[in-house]
Amino acid sequence: VLYDPSRRAPASQGDFPGIISLGCVMENMWLMANSLGIGFHIVSSLSNGAFEKNIRKMLNIPDKLIIAYSFRLGYPVKEPEKYLRVRRDVKDFAHYNKYGGKGI
Ligand SMILES: Cc1cc2nc3c(=O)[nH]c(=O)nc-3n(C[C@H](O)[C@H](O)[C@H](O)COP(=O)(O)O)c2cc1C
Repeated sequence: VLYDPSRRAPASQGDFPGIISLGCVMENMWLMANSLGIGFHIVSSLSNGAFEKNIRKMLNIPDKLIIAYSFRLGYPVKEPEKYLRVRRDVKDFAHYNKYGGKGI
């Protein structure tokens, strides 16, 4: 998933909103893949260092484009095993009406 800094919205300052928007794209693709029984694995490590150099060469990606995200898709050969998934409680990071505001 490539980001072109030269084509960002005129009112947007910097690349942050564009990259975040692509994160939303990734989420939608992930949800759709999941609903179709297709596994989805984001791999951000292809966006930097030696990996990036090779990927750019292999896929002929111009230098002016930023590799924002990469992912792989696949049909699981078997039901995934249950594993520990670490999730914070919503109350740990949700604020009500003001920063630090406690919910019900
Ligand atoms: C923005 C982002 C970048 C990620 N980058 C990597 C990565 O470089 N390598 C990797 O093995 N997993 C990476 N992951 C995690 C996998 O996609 C992971 O399978 C997925 O988040 C499911 O996690 P869960 O089992 O906690 O639900 C990344 C996830 C996100 C959201």
